[in-house]
Amino acid sequence: MTLFKSRILSTGMYVPNKVVHNRDLEKIVETSDEWIFERTGIRERRISSTEGGEFPSDMALAASLDALKAANLEPNDIDMIIFGSVTPDFKLPNTACVLQQKLGITNNCAALDIAAACSGFVYGVNMADSLVKTGLMKNVLVVGSEMLSTEVDWEDRNTCILFGDGCGVAIVGRGNDGDKSEILSCTLGADGKGAEFFDQPIGGAVNPITAEHLINRTHFMHMKGKEMFKVATRTLADNARVVIEKAGLSIDDVDWVVPHQANIRIIETTAKLLGINMDKVIVNIEKYGNTSAATVPIAFHEAIADGRIKRGDVVLFDAFGAGLTSGATLLRY
Ligand SMILES: CC(C)(COP(=O)(O)OP(=O)(O)OC[C@H]1O[C@@H](n2cnc3c(N)ncnc32)[C@H](O)[C@@H]1OP(=O)(O)O)[C@@H](O)C(=O)NCCC(=O)NCCS
Repeated sequence: MTLFKSRILSTGMYVPNKVVHNRDLEKIVETSDEWIFERTGIRERRISSTEGGEFPSDMALAASLDALKAANLEPNDIDMIIFGSVTPDFKLPNTACVLQQKLGITNNCAALDIAAACSGFVYGVNMADSLVKTGLMKNVLVVGSEMLSTEVDWEDRNTCILFGDGCGVAIVGRGNDGDKSEILSCTLGADGKGAEFFDQPIGGAVNPITAEHLINRTHFMHMKGKEMFKVATRTLADNARVVIEKAGLSIDDVDWVVPHQANIRIIETTAKLLGINMDKVIVNIEKYGNTSAATVPIAFHEAIADGRIKRGDVVLFDAFGAGLTSGATLLRY
């Protein structure tokens, strides 16, 4: 039941001011700038201030104000906020409600957090697409905002070198008949069998944090990098093919791929599997590392801002994360 077209009206981003270079990590764990860059493509990442002003809702506020301005909308034009994050400001209330208040929204818009890890933003865009197409919502603010620096064990070189903090947003809104831009096709999925490849089992209802966990540092995120790597490339390539086929297009019609930025080698392997040239792939992992739900919207926003992605271009979002969740979107920007 498609009544309306949906399209991306605008985007925004915010990254923390503090830059942490690989060389800074050499002082904390046994690693090297060369190893990290060669194995991951990461050179530096941004880390939020713990003093305030750069928590997930703060970063989302800055990014959302830019996106609202670019779309020529007022905060009260938003009728739903979908907040993708595994590092919410609080357990309660949800961060979408916190952002609603920070934006000064007084229209009682719907506010929902989704915990789909690195796929959170793509999950949000695809859900927003359905809500706009069916006419239930007109303008949905979709956020990917993460402060992973608080969940990473800075003594564990397997994880701490990979992640960073940041936020990206997009406003998904109703399109008009004459618009050439629209969301063409979506896919979402998950495979809970791979849950143990990337998890944080301490701190929820089953295993509340105890003093022992804090002493033994077992409350942080854990990852089986090799397993994640293998499943990621296969899933990213499969989902890309699904949305391209659903839209009745071919891989050659895709102007830009905006993939989740977890590891440059995952991105390159996926591009190879799809037979797509790296010139068409947006990569910024060198500057920010893996910011989970924020990687796709930050990369998308930067490529629009620097003029690479233009209105009318066919763009593929392709994401994968803990859960294991995954999702892809094909759109004409
Ligand atoms: C984590 C990851 C970078 C590790 O790269 P890798 O090439 O698989 O490296 P390995 O784990 O095989 O380690 C190779 C060697 O480097 C060492 N090593 C691991 N981390 C290191 C680090 N930070 N610095 C230096 N050496 C390191 C290992 O101990 C190992 O040494 P050994 O051969 O003496 O045993 C890679 O597996 C990865 O990016 N996986 C996917 C991550 C991901 O997608 N995460 C999130 C998805 S949303």
